[in-house]
Formats: sequence, C-alpha cells, structure tokens
Amino acid sequence: MQKLQFGVAYYPEHWPQERWAEDIRLMQAAHVTVARLGEFAWSSMEPVEGQFNFAWLEKAIEMLAEAGIATVLGTPTAAPPAWLAQKYPTTLATEETGRQAQFGNRCHYCVNSPEFHTASRRIVQAMAARFGSSPHVIGWQLDNEYNRVCYCDHCRAEFQAFLRERYGTLDELNRHWSTAYWSQSYSDWAQIPIPIGPHNPGLMLVFRHFVTRSYQNFQQAQLDELRPHLPPSVWVTHNFMGWFGAFDHYTLTRDIDFASWDWYIGTGHIDYLTTGAIHDLTRGFKQKNFWLMETQPGNVNWSKTNNVLNRGEARAMAWHAVAHGADALLYWQWRSALGGQEQYHGSLIDQSGRQRPFFDEAKRIGQEFAQVADLLFGSIIQSKVALLNCYDSRWSLEFQRHNSEFDYVRHLTHWYRALAARNLNVDVISADAALDQYELVIAPALLVLDEARAEKLKAFVQRGGRLVLTVRTGMKDRHNALLPQRQPGTLAELAGVEVVDYYSLLEPVPVAGELFQGTSQLWAERLQILDGQSPVVLACFGASNGWLDDQVAIALNPYGNGFVYTVGAYLDVASQQALTDQILNDARLEMFETPPGIEVRPRTLVNGEPVYFIINHTRLPQTVSLPWAAFDHLTGKISAGEMEFAGYAVAIVTRQKD
Ligand code: GLA
Ligand code: ZN
Repeated sequence: MQKLQFGVAYYPEHWPQERWAEDIRLMQAAHVTVARLGEFAWSSMEPVEGQFNFAWLEKAIEMLAEAGIATVLGTPTAAPPAWLAQKYPTTLATEETGRQAQFGNRCHYCVNSPEFHTASRRIVQAMAARFGSSPHVIGWQLDNEYNRVCYCDHCRAEFQAFLRERYGTLDELNRHWSTAYWSQSYSDWAQIPIPIGPHNPGLMLVFRHFVTRSYQNFQQAQLDELRPHLPPSVWVTHNFMGWFGAFDHYTLTRDIDFASWDWYIGTGHIDYLTTGAIHDLTRGFKQKNFWLMETQPGNVNWSKTNNVLNRGEARAMAWHAVAHGADALLYWQWRSALGGQEQYHGSLIDQSGRQRPFFDEAKRIGQEFAQVADLLFGSIIQSKVALLNCYDSRWSLEFQRHNSEFDYVRHLTHWYRALAARNLNVDVISADAALDQYELVIAPALLVLDEARAEKLKAFVQRGGRLVLTVRTGMKDRHNALLPQRQPGTLAELAGVEVVDYYSLLEPVPVAGELFQGTSQLWAERLQILDGQSPVVLACFGASNGWLDDQVAIALNPYGNGFVYTVGAYLDVASQQALTDQILNDARLEMFETPPGIEVRPRTLVNGEPVYFIINHTRLPQTVSLPWAAFDHLTGKISAGEMEFAGYAVAIVTRQKD
C-alpha cells in the first residue's frame, strides 16, 4: 500500500546531464513524487551486446531521490536496439502481409522469438541486479503497452504446438471446429495457419488465446529475471491500454502485483460516463486499485485533431481517475525530446526548457494530491454491482458482428453509462470472477457459455442475487461453436424464457412497456415464455418486421431467492435509463441523481467511512444539493444545502459530524 503518487515520465537520456538538476527542481515545484524512467532506453543501457552502461541511470535515480522523488523503472523491451535487429533479424516481427517489421519505431519485436527472449532476459537481469535493491526504486513496469501480434513462421510453429497441447488430437480439434465444413479437416498440425482475415471461428478464437499465452510467456521471462532481486515491498506492473483487445487481460495480470493503464483522450474531451468504465475495467483486472501510468498533459500528437484539454479539464480527469481507484497519476511526458517521433506531444516543459501553461494546472493537482494523500491512504472502491466482461464473447462478436454497428464494448458501455449516470460504483470484472459480494450482476452479451459459468450464475441468483441477461447471450461454447440449444442456453431455466429468433435491425423497432415507450436499436430478440414458467413481461415489441410484432422483448423471472431480467432489446438511451432505474429500485440500490455532467463517487476510507469526490465535468457552473453538511478536504470549508460548482470544479468531501 502506498500513498497517492503524482508524477511524470522522464527520459534523462534525451538530455545532457547539466540539465537534469533544473528538471528536477521544476519537478519538485510541481509536487512530483514519482518519475518513471528507463522504458525505451535499451540502447543507452546496453549500447553494445552484453556491455552495460547504467551509470547515467543511477545518477538520475539518485538525483531524483535527493529531491524526494521516487523512481519507477521500466524494462526497455518495447524498444529493442538497432544492433539486436541487425545481428538477430528473427527478433523482428512479421506483419500480416508477410512483410518484416522495420527497425526505427518501437514494438517491432516478435514476442516469441527465442533470440529476443534471450536478449530481454539479459537486459532485465542486468537492470534487476543493479537496481532491484535500490531503496529509490519503488516499483517496475514490464515492457510498455503490449500490443504487437506476429505472423512469422516461428510463431506459426509455436501456435501449432499450442493447439496440440490444447486439443491433444487432431480429431478433437476437427470436431470442435466442424472442419468437415468447406473441407477444412486437418490431417497434420503443420497444416494449420495463423488466421488472417475472416476464418474458421474456432481457429480465430483460439489464436487470441495463443497471443495471450505468448505475452504471458514473455512477461514471465522478465519476471523470472526480475523478482529474485526485488525486496517484497517492490512491486511489478504493466501499463495496459484499457479496452485494447488483442489478448485476455485477466490472464496477463495474474502474475503482476497490480494493473496500470495509459489514458489518453486524443481528439475531443472527456466523456466521464464512458471513461469511468475503463478505469473500472482496469481496477477489475485484479480487483485492486490501479495506477494511471500515463495520461495526457494537454494534448497528444497521434490523433486526428490534437486539441488541447480545456483549462481545468485535466484536473477534473485526475480526480475522476482517483475516484475510480487510481492510486497514482503520471503525465506523459515531462518534456519532448528535440528529435524523435513525438515532438508535438503535450508535456509540462516546452522545447525551450521552460514551463508550458499546463504546468500550473499540473502543479495544482500535485499539490492537492499531497494534501489528501494521508486521508486516502489505503482507501478502496466498494461496489454491489458488477458488469461482467468476457474476452471470448467479445472476440466472437467482433469476428461475426452480424450488424456492423454492433460492438461488444459499446454495448457493455451502454449498460455502464446508465448506472454511472446514477453515480453507482460498478465493478467491471471477469465473467469468471466470484460474485459473492454483489447484489446486482449485469452480463452484457455473454455469448460464450459453459456449464461452469452457467452454474456460477445460477448459484448467484439462487442465493438472492439479481441477474440481467442482455441480447446475444448464451449462443456459443468455449470453442466458438454454436451451442446446440436456443439462447440463452442452459440459462433458460433461470430466465424462464428462451430466444426463438434474433434479428439484426436495419432500423430501430418500437418496444414499449409500463416503464417506457421506446425503441430497440441494431438488434432484437424474440422471447418466448417456457412451458410451466410465468415471468413478468416488462416490455413487448411493436409492429415492425412482422416476426417481432407484439412479441415479448423484456421479461423478469423469479428464480430461487433472486430474479433474472432477460432484455431482448438494445434500448435507446432514455428507455435504457428507465429500465436501469427500475432494476436499481427493485434491488434497493441507492441512486444519487445529479445534474448532467456532475459525477459523485465514493471511495471507502480505512475507517470504513466514505469520502465523496464531486466533479463537474463540464465548463459550465452547476449546483449540487448535498444531503448533509460536508467538509471539503481541498478548501477546508464546510458546506450544507446547495453547493456551487464552477466549470471543472472538484470537491472531496466527508460528512461533517455535528
Ligand atoms: C503511449 C506510450 C507512450 C507515448 C504515449 C503518447 O501511451 O506508452 O510512450 O508514446 O503513448 O501519447
Ligand atoms: Zn513471430
């Protein structure tokens, strides 16, 4: 457990040593407590194979430490040096087209290359031996934003070996993938390709598992070199990219201490109802607080229009992240190198070495982090509501959307937004996680279902939980084959209904009930009540394609001590809110209504009391009515009744005891 940290990514190797003292003086002025160093610095640390130069890094770490700034060290493997690519060309990845990745950008590595593993182990081992026991290095980041998928012959052979391990025999594989279809039957493991473009759904899904395994192995190789040199208090993390979907993040976070992520807006401005889900997703990877390892100081350089965040917006974003479980926030980056690919990216220091206008906002955030660090120490996010996230279901849907607009993440976020608009804490967790602590579980498009998963959901409802099933549930097995049952597979027993047919919609269709008169977008499922069951019908479809006319769209079924909602419609925003409010009311979960753009979130302090973050995510002044007298830990003032919020204003309040 650590105090709230505030920091920057710093690349001392870009600057002459004479400059460092000035940088560090300015960091101190901005209340920086942590700097991340070293990721991408491979060629500075190992300029020649096997010859290490760590003197500069040690010097930088010491100078920072003298100024009270701790270091997080990144292993530099996302930027393999030119000598490595030259001597071992097989360390370079192969792109989908068969072209070899070119040296000169980053992440050009083949994640499975034995030569690359050897080189990575060597640099990580050398760094670990030198800095592992340094009192100034509080933690490590492995690599940077895992993302590359390689299509080389070596990866293909590894993939085939992986399939052999998973399926045992080709008969098994052929059976699960229905390979008699289009003469796809395999008689030799070596015949199996890496899928490029649309392919057999079974092959496509299992390839994602292979990519996951590849990064897991690569990560493990680094952990094996690193961990033996680290005292127990020193942690290891990786900076993920939110909803990035090339691999299963639950598997990859298993072996690290906590998850981190890199949050960029790119073009536009914060939409907190959507970004909250990504913070909650990252927290959910390990069901632990996380680090915001990188975030945007003003603007980026890689988006369509690299607009700046409005003045005050980054501060609101910083507290939004903390309100969702961030224990640290680091701006990327301190200062842009004079050369290199990212000259136009936002930073705190400009090309002349002086403070940019954004510096003052960062400084204020740093000062405020310091102010509440003791208060927040050890605090956590507690939630009674879970949204289930399933990579297999997501991938399967992405391979075969059936409606190009149907997007798994957007669908999940649609459910999230209606909860977040009522200021409810939500855990976004793995569809295989334990559900004991929850009262309401929403499983958006839980397409892939097996017995274990169905049993777990059944037990949850049996003991009194409320479960929401949405469209596209219970359609496939773990091999991405259709289940030989109607949707929602074995969950039908709980739902009291089954899906007689599903429809990809050209236009919204009417759907109405006592709660709302609205429409279903993109998708509709015609529900049928099972014999002997008597669920409450909450909404029916109106006249549209004939097949849906007057058919059941949403049903609520009692099961055991709990209830199951089956929602066969993808509702418009207002109807979705009305349905969500009803579900929350039914579950007696407390909602907190706020004006649009105002977020209120509690974190639970070590003494069990909540501290509320009240954030105005708009540029306009707003008023929030407080249910009790509140002490604001930023201003030291007590407010009661109506509290005024200027544009992007933030308050961090606890209930004032009288
Ligand atoms: C990523 C990388 C950083 C930097 C930023 C720029 O998140 O991890 O090194 O390139 O993007 O936005
Ligand atoms: Zn490869």
